[in-house]
Amino acid sequence: MTVQKLFPTLVYRGRLKQAGWPAFNNRLLHECQQLRVDDVGGQRWSAKNYPGGYTSYNSVSRLHQVSPTFAELERRLRRHVRSFAATLQFDLEQRELSMTDCWANIMPRQVVHGLHLHPLATISGTYYVKTPKGCAGLKFEDPRLDRFMAAPPKIATSRQDNRPWVVVPAEAGTLVLFESWLRHEVPPNPTPSERISISFNYNWF
Ligand SMILES: [Fe+2]
Repeated sequence: MTVQKLFPTLVYRGRLKQAGWPAFNNRLLHECQQLRVDDVGGQRWSAKNYPGGYTSYNSVSRLHQVSPTFAELERRLRRHVRSFAATLQFDLEQRELSMTDCWANIMPRQVVHGLHLHPLATISGTYYVKTPKGCAGLKFEDPRLDRFMAAPPKIATSRQDNRPWVVVPAEAGTLVLFESWLRHEVPPNPTPSERISISFNYNWF
């Protein structure tokens, strides 16, 4: 008897290992915090669309093009994106995956980021800058969920790859990459401290 696993959904986790990481992460932290103060358009947009929190998603969404620190983040992420694309076996002959968007997210207590995907992108991801102990991870949804019309629930002890939702922990200094069509959310931040992350999209050109 043989049982094959077909059509896997891949999620990549990595760590920025290069020397000087704490100082570099600190620079990112300060720039995210300063951006929240300076970005009036983003404050206005966040008040409507990201209640209680701040995101530069709709205002300063190409941070890698306007800040040397974020440009350095882009350089440090490159090898991870390449490695993930290789695992996905993308045929990128004469093409290149490039960062198209990069924005900051600040989530104080109880702020939530509802279920969504990233349109007009190939690979998306998040780098974690500040993750207070007990803060929410990144929750992924099985992309086949809407087809499970008559499927019984999974047993409580089911393997992670058999569950309809999987939470990948958020840890400062680490990054998560996924294909942009994969729906995900950030559950409410239960801690009194801010959870700060940087999200980004890559597309192939
Ligand atoms: Fe997202």
